[in-house]
Amino acid sequence: MRHLHTRTTRGRLAGALAAGLLCATGLGAPAATAAPVAPALDDGLALTPPMGFNNWNSTHCRAEFNESMVKGIADLFVEKGLKDAGYEYVNLDDCWALPTRDADGKLVADPVRFPNGIKAVADYVHAKGLKFGIYTSAGTKTCNTAGFPGALGHEYSDARQFADWGVDYLKYDNCNNQGVDAKQRYETMRDALRATGRPIVYSICEWGENKPWEWAADVGHLWRTTGDISDNWGSMLSILKQNLPLAPHAGPGHWNDPDMLEVGNGGMTDTEYRSHFSMWAIMAAPLLIGSDLRSASEETFDILGNREVIAVDQDPLGKQGTVISSEGGRWVVAKEMRDGSRAVALFNETGSAQRITTSARAVGLPAADAYTLRDLWQHRSHNTAGTISATVPAHGTVLLRAFTDPEWAQHPPAVELGLDGGPLVEAGRTAALTSTVTDLGRTPARRVSVTLAGPEGWSVESTSPTASPVLTTGRSLRTTWAVTAPEGTPTGSYGLTLRASYRSPAGVRVDSALPLTATVVVAPPPGTSGLGDLPWLSATNGWGPVERNTSNGESAAGDGGPITIGGVVYGTGLGVHAESAVEYYAGGACETVTAQVGLDDEEGADGTVAFEIWADGTKAASTGVLTNAMPAQPITGDVRGARVVRLVVTDGGDGITSDHGDWAEARLSC
Ligand code: GLA
Repeated sequence: MRHLHTRTTRGRLAGALAAGLLCATGLGAPAATAAPVAPALDDGLALTPPMGFNNWNSTHCRAEFNESMVKGIADLFVEKGLKDAGYEYVNLDDCWALPTRDADGKLVADPVRFPNGIKAVADYVHAKGLKFGIYTSAGTKTCNTAGFPGALGHEYSDARQFADWGVDYLKYDNCNNQGVDAKQRYETMRDALRATGRPIVYSICEWGENKPWEWAADVGHLWRTTGDISDNWGSMLSILKQNLPLAPHAGPGHWNDPDMLEVGNGGMTDTEYRSHFSMWAIMAAPLLIGSDLRSASEETFDILGNREVIAVDQDPLGKQGTVISSEGGRWVVAKEMRDGSRAVALFNETGSAQRITTSARAVGLPAADAYTLRDLWQHRSHNTAGTISATVPAHGTVLLRAFTDPEWAQHPPAVELGLDGGPLVEAGRTAALTSTVTDLGRTPARRVSVTLAGPEGWSVESTSPTASPVLTTGRSLRTTWAVTAPEGTPTGSYGLTLRASYRSPAGVRVDSALPLTATVVVAPPPGTSGLGDLPWLSATNGWGPVERNTSNGESAAGDGGPITIGGVVYGTGLGVHAESAVEYYAGGACETVTAQVGLDDEEGADGTVAFEIWADGTKAASTGVLTNAMPAQPITGDVRGARVVRLVVTDGGDGITSDHGDWAEARLSC
């Protein structure tokens, strides 16, 4: 009776909230026009995103996936404080079973991997105060080619067996589904799990194929939104971009699942893993550790165990962060928290340091004199007058929590470090760089000083003052530096570190450091050079790599054909795929970029792109939108004085499908 009463009240409340939302957004239209959101499962499970471990990303089906691994992970959850940090579920993925059911149609654990059966492992995990999860597929067999049994047609019996073993979490995959309707398959297992009477978190894994965010809120507690993650930057980034727009569909008991964590598996740098973890947290994603903790580094434990980041993920309001701005690979994502604060990620998608800027108002905070900014990786608090800004290293993320705070003045002012322009250095030639130290705080920064350190053997000298007695709100100390890499330094990337120190009004000393990358470049050759042959500074491409003197091809390196536009074949140039940008060092010594541009004939009629030539921050030439039907267009960009020349191909405004762009006969004259 009581339970029923609670449900009714909750239902009414939800209705009232929805109506309030409609008014607030000014739609004022009948509910039918709003995006249909199915009610969440009302079982009190997964009210915050599930946290735990799953072996798949580290072992796949290799032999080390076995009882001793699973027990070892449970032990480490306790010993390393991960259990206290919120990690709870220890989950098995594919390959735990034998390929055939027993005479009674029951699943049988692989006796080599799990000699004591599954219940013994579940009991061990439970004895540690943790929960236990398992895997099967909503098909006749699981995904592994060995063909382990799936649950399609066995839902009630398999669910019963899982419940008897003490399973608390089921990941239900999509392989060998026999073409049966997804909603129907996933609902049947939901009902089978419910019929066991055991609370079991239900993870839908159909890879986003049937848009589960539109129908699964009352089917499962989480649903995969994409295909499988793999342990590299490109995979993580593409999944992140697919999952971000789905924010409106996530909430307590029904989460978007951008797949399990790769943190610690070795295919990304620790900076990239911090970005991965930061972005999963701000997206309120399930946090399922996917590395073998028995051999994990301290850095991996530090990332996974960062409680301030975990608190962003686990916030009880249950909002997924939304994109506030994204331009040129500089992302601002903000998440509303229950206490009214905002988690803010300044995420740098690009391969070079970027200044990423927003404000307390833009991320949704009310007007105030000042705010507190908590840096969740540095574990430091500062005050800001409203600007939230940082130079973020390549592939890095600055993760902050911003809030109105009567105590803001207790914290030293936030100070932003920056370096104007990308540090490009020709060996043996002095480059002039300018650093900035800017007070973002409401309070002044006193006794400000700055240093710049280069690699061994480089000369780095200031050519203007490196100290200021005081910087007030918005004021900067600008310092110019003469930086010289020794003659003969090979081209490539080198570390520079900008450091500043200052005092708060109360005299507290603050030290901060910005790691930067200097690129040693060679001057472009005098005369006219083919851009298909010159080394570039950087190249990004929407599909596969940028190709030299051939078209883009399908996706692999070197798979292009002769550059062909409107039936005319060109021997030289660049083959790219929108969105693309290729940067060359011009060193202020060049005059023009010329090319014949268009869509390559290798694709059908769908492609539309626009070509642009940039001289540093200025657009020097552009074609407007071109289609496949058009012959090559000549383009000439005046790039006099530019240090960097950038060749950009955009998607013409309609997505990147079939957008194979050619910079035929692209030449740089210096
Ligand atoms: C699918 C899933 C993965 C993993 C494997 C196991 O690919 O998406 O997460 O469970 O199956 O075979």
